[in-house]
Formats: sequence, C-alpha cells, structure tokens
Amino acid sequence: MKNTGGSEAAKRRAGEAAADEVAEGMVVGLGTGSTAAHAIHALGDADVDIEGVPTSFQSRQRAIEAGIPLTTLEEASVDVAIDGADQVAGGDLVKGGGAAHAREKLVDASADRFVVVADPSKEADALDYPVPVEVLPDAHTVVAERVRDLGGDPDLRAAERKDGPVVTDNGNLVLDCAFGRIERPDELAASLSALPGVLDHGLFVGMADAVYVGTADGVRVTEP
Ligand code: A5P
Repeated sequence: MKNTGGSEAAKRRAGEAAADEVAEGMVVGLGTGSTAAHAIHALGDADVDIEGVPTSFQSRQRAIEAGIPLTTLEEASVDVAIDGADQVAGGDLVKGGGAAHAREKLVDASADRFVVVADPSKEADALDYPVPVEVLPDAHTVVAERVRDLGGDPDLRAAERKDGPVVTDNGNLVLDCAFGRIERPDELAASLSALPGVLDHGLFVGMADAVYVGTADGVRVTEP
C-alpha cells in the first residue's frame, strides 16, 4: 500500500535539496521509495566522497547504480539519513508503504540527523494513513486480533504479481492497520511496539529533524 500522489518533479526537488545537506566524508542513511531515490541519484552525481547505509534491497540497488560505496551500521555511524514518507504531520510520519519501515526506522533513528523528503500530497494536519505493521508470519492472525482490540482495522497486504501476501526484505508479512485519525501517535506507537510478533510498525513519532517538501516551483523546509 502506497500513498502515490505527488508529481515526480516535486519529489525530485525535495530529494535533490536534501542531498545538498550531505558533506564530504559523511555516512548517509539511504531511504527507500521514489522520493528518496532522487536523493540517492543526486548523491551519486555529487562531488563528495561518502558512504551509504541502505534501508532496503531497493535502496541498496539504487546506491550501487549511483556508484555510492556501501557500509553497515556495524562498521559506521550515520551522520544524516534521507528518507521518504507516506504521510507527514509535523515531525510525525507514517512510513512503510514499500514495506521497508523496520530497517528504515533502524537506520533513520540511528542517524545524527534525519531528513524527510516528500511532496505536498503527503502533508496532513494529523496522521490518518493506515499504519503498516510488520509481523512474523506465524503471528499475523494474533496481531490482527490485538490491532482490532486497539481500535484498528488490519488488512494483510497482498502481493502484486505473486499469489499471496507481500513478504518483506526480512521474510515477514505486513498488516496495514487503519485507525482513522490518530490523535495520540506516541501512545499508539507504544501499544503496537508492545505486541508480541510485531517486528516494527510505520509510526515514526517525533523523529524528523527536518522535512523537505518539493513544491511546484521550489522546496519548503521545516524543522519540526
Ligand atoms: C518505504 O517502505 C516507505 O517508507 C517509503 O519511504 C514511503 O513509502 C515513501 O515512498 P515514496 O517516496 O515513493 O512516496
């Protein structure tokens, strides 16, 4: 499930502007999705020697194509991470439309600075986008029941061009959980994190240090 609105030009402006934050010698968390891809491409073209920590199979592939040397969290600490979002409300995000949110959260949270790149279709006053929850395969029915107890409506994400469910880069499944308007993202995040069988969920609460929104003719930057 993806929030696929927004023009490619707006995404590119956001991605390229965020890439300008990166300086010589930095270790960069490389986000997943179409907006972060513009940042990865710009970093590949930039005249700086950097190393990248990918957040998914897809971002690893894009980094290789862009000629960015790769490293790991075991070998390096991340100076800045640049990543997209499915919805942005201030410094709070819903991520995981590409099912990469567990590794994205690990890399983005480890960074000294986490920069979000988005287009205006992602902006909202409050989060209400369905929250992706990555679950161990054996746990999907049990977690779905607990999500209903929390007031959510879980939907096992189906694969496209494969029969059956989406399988994440980690070999798990994803429940897209609609909660309507999320008044207390921090409380819901804690409740979801506490469920046995949940690897991670797509609520990124208070994590963003900066949000770059590409517009029709420029980039709007906020520091929530
Ligand atoms: C990947 O799982 C997601 O968290 C993406 O970062 C998110 O879906 C944004 O993708 P786009 O930039 O393609 O909209």
